[in-house]
Amino acid sequence: MIKKTDAYIYYDTEKDTYSLKLKAPLSVCWQITTKCNLNCKYCLSSSGCNGIYGLNTDVAKKIIKELGDLGVNRLDFTGGEPLLRRDLGELIDYAKENNISTIVTTNTTLLNKNNIEVLKKADLVQVSIDGPEDVHNAQRQSDVFDKTIENIKILKDAGCKIRLNSFLFNSNKKYVDYLIDLSNKLGVFSHLFIIFTPQGRGRNYPDEIISPEEVEVIKNKILHEKEKSNRNIRLYDYNEYIHSCVLLTPTGDVISQGFYEEDSINVGNILNDSLENLFSNEIFDHPTHIFHYLQRRINK
Ligand SMILES: C[S@@+](CC[C@H](N)C(=O)[O-])C[C@H]1O[C@@H](n2cnc3c(N)ncnc32)[C@H](O)[C@@H]1O
Ligand code: SF4
Repeated sequence: MIKKTDAYIYYDTEKDTYSLKLKAPLSVCWQITTKCNLNCKYCLSSSGCNGIYGLNTDVAKKIIKELGDLGVNRLDFTGGEPLLRRDLGELIDYAKENNISTIVTTNTTLLNKNNIEVLKKADLVQVSIDGPEDVHNAQRQSDVFDKTIENIKILKDAGCKIRLNSFLFNSNKKYVDYLIDLSNKLGVFSHLFIIFTPQGRGRNYPDEIISPEEVEVIKNKILHEKEKSNRNIRLYDYNEYIHSCVLLTPTGDVISQGFYEEDSINVGNILNDSLENLFSNEIFDHPTHIFHYLQRRINK
């Protein structure tokens, strides 16, 4: 899907620098719910059975229309567990009608015959795997590893494009090779590594924060593996691309997400203000928002 985006490049005569500004972010992450059937130890959205269901379908569709009108290219339906939203299929369809590519990030454990059809509508299904069976199950606080692997195969056979999502923290960072090998064996479309961010319940585990030096080593390793195998492997570090992640919460807050919760900036709420106005906040002009997408293509 090719979509036009309004971007401005301007020259600052005082500073002798060029800057880039977008009318709206390229991609938006939407926690459509913080309800979840799991209760992961480090969950950055503190999701669980007591989470918030989220905005109703009519309001959600109004937001999607606004995102489409503003030129947002991609919408990641995340959570919480998006499969708990009864209207997920309707929202994906409506995003497509508004020319927005869709991702659904899911733990897959609620997969059934009906919602497979829903996930087939998405352009990409991201499935989280945190390490080998014992590591994954310990982080997920549930014995779901085997089921998740099985579900990845079912989704793949059903024709879904799958990306493995693995976030790395001190206790699982030694399994990068294992994880790359796993995604290779599963034959999935791509693999995204994310560096642990101490937000939500993750905030209680500062010992899991990987030092910047080690993050560098991990980055180089992943880059090397990517080159060697010529596979679609990526790495996202909230610390490097600070304020590049634009987050909508289940209550409609618009947040420029940082590494620590304290770095995150809440620019307002969709229920009280237009998205056009909220996105015009200067925090969203941060060039990393653009560069982290471009860099994935221009770096090695
Ligand atoms: C919050 S979950 C929501 C979607 C779905 N419930 C799942 O687990 O895939 C979105 C992604 O964030 C990852 N994640 C959870 N806690 C994290 C943390 N503290 N730092 C970085 N990523 C985290 C998850 O593994 C998952 O891939
Ligand atoms: S990481 Fe995903 S599956 Fe785990 S509690 Fe958070 S939202 Fe649920």
